[in-house]
Amino acid sequence: MNTTSSPPSNEPRRGSLSCVGMGMTLGSHLTPLARNHIEQADVIFAGLSDGVVELWLQRMHPDVRSLQPYYQHGKSRMKTYKQWVALIMAEVRAGKRVCGVFYGHPGIFAWAPHKVIELARAEGFQAHMEPGVSAEDCLYADLGIDPGRYGCQHFEASQLLIYERRIDPTAYLVLWQVGLVGDRSMARFQTGPEYRQVLVDVLSRDYPLEHEVLIYRGATLPIEKPRVRRVALRNLPHVPLNSEETVILPPAQSLKPNLAMRERLDALDNIDTTGMPA
Ligand SMILES: C[S@@+](CC[C@H](N)C(=O)[O-])C[C@H]1O[C@@H](n2cnc3c(N)ncnc32)[C@H](O)[C@@H]1O
Repeated sequence: MNTTSSPPSNEPRRGSLSCVGMGMTLGSHLTPLARNHIEQADVIFAGLSDGVVELWLQRMHPDVRSLQPYYQHGKSRMKTYKQWVALIMAEVRAGKRVCGVFYGHPGIFAWAPHKVIELARAEGFQAHMEPGVSAEDCLYADLGIDPGRYGCQHFEASQLLIYERRIDPTAYLVLWQVGLVGDRSMARFQTGPEYRQVLVDVLSRDYPLEHEVLIYRGATLPIEKPRVRRVALRNLPHVPLNSEETVILPPAQSLKPNLAMRERLDALDNIDTTGMPA
């Protein structure tokens, strides 16, 4: 006799979605919660940057579908990302528990995970993003940067060229996707020195050309070490740069005291808690 309390249901199971981060370094960054989402899913879609990491994922789940083959030279990445969203949503709508696994953090500089979660929720499905260890987290650790010390701005490099943005040179500046800076077609995986020269010209409004910039690549395999190259800003166009590197500009100017605000704070400090002058 069946003694469980819930009655058997003939309703088809509702699909659901989780997008989780695999972290940056194989084997050491996957959180227990992310692993749990992977193990509980019916189907996995993998947007990973490294084939070895994908093999590792395949050991955790029998149905891992790679999203990598949808990238193609000359094809807009936006078209690829929309295909990813369509593939994932088709399985959610079919009633599956779907898990999208992305390298790093699934919500950092990643269009498709945000979009597919938004869409799934709009259609009434349960959808969740599980954070992961990002290249951002790794660079703070590997380069000894505390973003709280001077502040830290993050930009997608091309945005500095195609929009008017305000840079604060008293803070750290972290530039993502410099390897393909200036690519408006979204169909290239790399742009050349001429494009990086445009970036340098923009940056030179706020930084001296001799300012030292860091080109950082965090380890993706446990046998690797983080790589940091230091070059003068003027030389950024002339060094090879790949899609797995992030460029960091340390502050170029000292923090400037805001004397007017200090005076206001002084005045407040001189008033006791009853509101009376001390
Ligand atoms: C599409 S974004 C993906 C970021 C990823 N979601 C994360 O959480 O780190 C790709 C950019 O991440 C940065 N990146 C990717 N792999 C990296 C690595 N191993 N070390 C440093 N930066 C990396 C580069 O700036 C690259 O252009």
